[in-house]
Amino acid sequence: MSAFAYAGGELHAEKVALAEVAERYGTPCYVYSRAAIEAAYRDFHEAFAGLRYLVCYAVKANGNVAVLDILARLGSGFDIVSGGELARVQAAGGLASRTVFSGVGKTADEMAAALAADILCFNVESAAELETLAGVAAREGRRARVSFRVNPDVDPGTHPYISTGLKENKFGVPIAEALALYRYAAELPSIAVTGIDMHIGSQITELAPYRDAAGKVLALADTLAREGVLLQHVDLGGGLGVRYRDEQPVPLIDYAQMVRRLMDGRREKLILEPGRRLVADAGVLLTRVLYLKSGPERGFAIVDAAMNDLLRPALYEAWHAIDAVRPRVAAPARWDIVGPVCESADFLGHDRMLALAQGDLLAVRTAGAYGMSMSSNYNARPRACELVVDGASVHIARRRERIDDLFSAESRLP
Ligand code: LLP
Repeated sequence: MSAFAYAGGELHAEKVALAEVAERYGTPCYVYSRAAIEAAYRDFHEAFAGLRYLVCYAVKANGNVAVLDILARLGSGFDIVSGGELARVQAAGGLASRTVFSGVGKTADEMAAALAADILCFNVESAAELETLAGVAAREGRRARVSFRVNPDVDPGTHPYISTGLKENKFGVPIAEALALYRYAAELPSIAVTGIDMHIGSQITELAPYRDAAGKVLALADTLAREGVLLQHVDLGGGLGVRYRDEQPVPLIDYAQMVRRLMDGRREKLILEPGRRLVADAGVLLTRVLYLKSGPERGFAIVDAAMNDLLRPALYEAWHAIDAVRPRVAAPARWDIVGPVCESADFLGHDRMLALAQGDLLAVRTAGAYGMSMSSNYNARPRACELVVDGASVHIARRRERIDDLFSAESRLP
């Protein structure tokens, strides 16, 4: 059951009418459902029940501290890719002991901060990064727990911008080189080799790429075990897709069954790094029609949200459903839903059949993941506010940016 549904002819988030939200907090705004996030997390919990596993939510999907707080309270761990994300997790009450650190370009400062926090593991992506981490850990008098992110060279069958496990991608250690790197790392006094990691891409809707990649990664873990390098965990990354339009995402239970088969009889604990699957469906972007404009070719509905608020359509030609908050009983027309930003790529949706009038409210669906987290201030647009609905109550998770926030870190010449 979706947390966003129509009642009495208007779209609600849980028990709150979105039109009232818009009235009270203004538009554009992101509205998240606490119940939807909790339900998505519990789906993982149920699917993996009985296994030794840890969900490390990929903070990049939606790093609002209220969202992280909801997940931390459920026992979730976190997958971070920067010192900023580490600070977010800490501010939200998340546990460093359940936090893994991914990414190809961790700086020495970020490593030091994560060592001081005593995170669970660094997912190391290159030999050069290992050298830096070993040096930082030695200097700080600590031992860094490490997994190598192995690039298994499989095609995840997703958009090229979000596939990461092919040998031409910048991510991970080529699988052919991983063994030598493990052997080397196992000898370093400031490094504790504790795991192995993969992440092959995002918005994946098939099981086969996971199975192929995990098979290769587990075979490597077995080789290591024969050499006496016993790993404590296997991290299968994130990437599970959701339905934006007509995709058929892998049912979680099928994914879990595949993982159970792979992990059967193994000693390592399982780590998963889902992002999108936990939060995408839990959010909408609420926006108001500023103007309707009919061109010779098509009609434009110019709304107050733009590519700076939700970049996915402009960047990946991603499709998001767009629904009227109070649907009109009138003949629909064909509209391009576009923002005020001065770029032709600034659209939220093309060719949408809707009955619209100026001032109408629209909800851009499935916007809980990679929406606000990829937003910017382009065109000097203050960022939208974020709200978390919990039953009948609304929590301001991030206030709307003010104009003076835009350049408060800037200064004129002396
Ligand atoms: N782990 C690692 C190491 C990652 O790089 C990512 C996402 C995840 C986990 C979580 O993946 P998910 O479960 O959310 O698919 N901006 C793009 C998605 C980029 C994903 C980047 N990495 C989009 O809007 O579709």
